[in-house]
Amino acid sequence: MLTLHTPVSPSAPSSETPATASSSGSAAPATTGREWWRHSVIYQVYPRSFASSGGPLGDLRGITERLPHLRDLGVDALWLSPFYVSPQKDGGYDVSDYRDVDPRFGTLADAEQMISRAHELGLRVIVDLVPNHTSDEHEWFRAALAAGPGSPERERYWFRDSEEVPNNWRSIFGGSAWTRVCDRPDAPGSPWEDDQQWYLNLFDSSQPDLNWNNPEVHQEFVSILRFWLDRGVDGFRVDVAHGLVKDPDLPDWGGEVHMVDGVEESDPADGESPAPPRAPMFDQDGVHEIYREWHEVLAQYEGDRALVAEAWVTPESQLAKYVRPDEMHQAFNFAFLASEWDAAQLREVIATSYAANDAVEAPTTWVMSNHDVIRHASRLGMDFTGKQQNGIGAEDPQPDNVLGLRRAKAATLLTLGLAGSVYLYQGEELGLPEHSTLPDALREDPAFFRTGGEEKGRDGCRVPLPWEASSPGFGFSPDGETWLPQPASWARLAVDAQTGEDDSTLEFYREAIRLRREWDLGIAELAWDADFDGRDVVAFVSSAPAEAAGNPAGADADSPAPQRPTVRVITTFGEAVHVPEGWQVAISSSPVTEGVIGTDTTAWLTRS
Ligand code: NOJ
Repeated sequence: MLTLHTPVSPSAPSSETPATASSSGSAAPATTGREWWRHSVIYQVYPRSFASSGGPLGDLRGITERLPHLRDLGVDALWLSPFYVSPQKDGGYDVSDYRDVDPRFGTLADAEQMISRAHELGLRVIVDLVPNHTSDEHEWFRAALAAGPGSPERERYWFRDSEEVPNNWRSIFGGSAWTRVCDRPDAPGSPWEDDQQWYLNLFDSSQPDLNWNNPEVHQEFVSILRFWLDRGVDGFRVDVAHGLVKDPDLPDWGGEVHMVDGVEESDPADGESPAPPRAPMFDQDGVHEIYREWHEVLAQYEGDRALVAEAWVTPESQLAKYVRPDEMHQAFNFAFLASEWDAAQLREVIATSYAANDAVEAPTTWVMSNHDVIRHASRLGMDFTGKQQNGIGAEDPQPDNVLGLRRAKAATLLTLGLAGSVYLYQGEELGLPEHSTLPDALREDPAFFRTGGEEKGRDGCRVPLPWEASSPGFGFSPDGETWLPQPASWARLAVDAQTGEDDSTLEFYREAIRLRREWDLGIAELAWDADFDGRDVVAFVSSAPAEAAGNPAGADADSPAPQRPTVRVITTFGEAVHVPEGWQVAISSSPVTEGVIGTDTTAWLTRS
């Protein structure tokens, strides 16, 4: 059988790090090979929409009250999107105070309470860090506007003098990436009303990009890291991790970058010269120095604190640079998310992901949905199943949500069968589809406004969760208020409607996560399943790594641990396949009858 992945084995600190694994020539940190971030299931909480203790917007107390749901689901950790002080122009990814909680979400004491309750329940907590840009209401940006051109305050951002727009860079949300100070809505009548300088905003004009060439910016973020580490967080999800350093010449660039998959479309202005291979605003070599600095900071704290990169970088070998042993610990695998529902494509992305990450001794992560993309229960029921348009509008072709959910469950069981770390997005355990008919008048995503409605935006995957089928607002908030409307059909998807129902999506997720943990699938040796060579399937075999056979992660080395079974994971696409003789179905995403695994189904098999 062809080996697909071999887990990293324990190592002592060494100055003889293999060339592929070393990023700076410094000694690689020791690994036990079993750190939690190598194999965990991590659940993303989008605070605005998880649960509210009062009012239409979710909040930290609401999250704390509902943490038992995550314990019962069996996940290891939660990652929370930002809950810091913010004008909420981009759902909290526009931070105006990194060391405090927005009053809409609660208080700092509520955050501390949430962290300690999560820890009591055995859940680790990852918080979001937004270092590429601040809000324009951050005190640094207010000071920069007030201090004027040439001031040290402006050196913390990318201000430029220029008669015309300084270059042709586009905002990820549409339109130019530059805003002239005098064109700001707050300019009239202000001291900067005639100010002709421009500032860079790769996202909304309310999200000015920070200048990471300025040492003050480095110091500030190390201090912010320490602030939250001191409050017990287990890690940080780093927003736009590939964007912090820009080519200082700010050259024109003909390509286009899309959120999440980072696809660059070459559209050179003169029609002749090709676009440069790498965007001058993304994935510059200088970013790695920042993550080495942060790695050192985290290493000073007990308990395996971790950094996870949100970096839209391809190919996987380039992305793997972010998770070299002295940089970050994980990076989201968006190539997997962006893949079509296609056996050959998925096999390819699984193989290249392991090859790239294994070379630097990092875990591979697996993710299908998050707060920026169409939920996979809908995406996989569309004509094109890869990462695509930004949002679905009522007038757009609608997804087949029955087909989508069937495939989504198959995709999830495939994902949970893979070694490495798995990210789940809130609500996917309920089989929630995208809200694909939201009225435009209710939309809040800046991408909707900056593209003149051409992109519907991400609100459809951010609808408040249904907890109780018979309560107003499906129990999202005590008074039933929700900041976005929930489809009436979600009553049958509510947590209480699915709990204890054998064939519900929620019980399916619970069982799959339980088996993954019991069998230690997160740390496994993987090989392609040769019996299915040439078939329209993804099929691999998961077995205990040689050194760990019979000793699942966290098991007491002195007590005899049950031998974990060899598990065959099979996902079907166009054709049905038979369960091989001598094997039985331990769990499947759709019923397997008379030994036939139907199309669009994943099954985990053990020996009968
Ligand atoms: C990526 C985040 O996931 C997204 O929600 C946000 O809009 C951008 N970064 C800008 O911070």
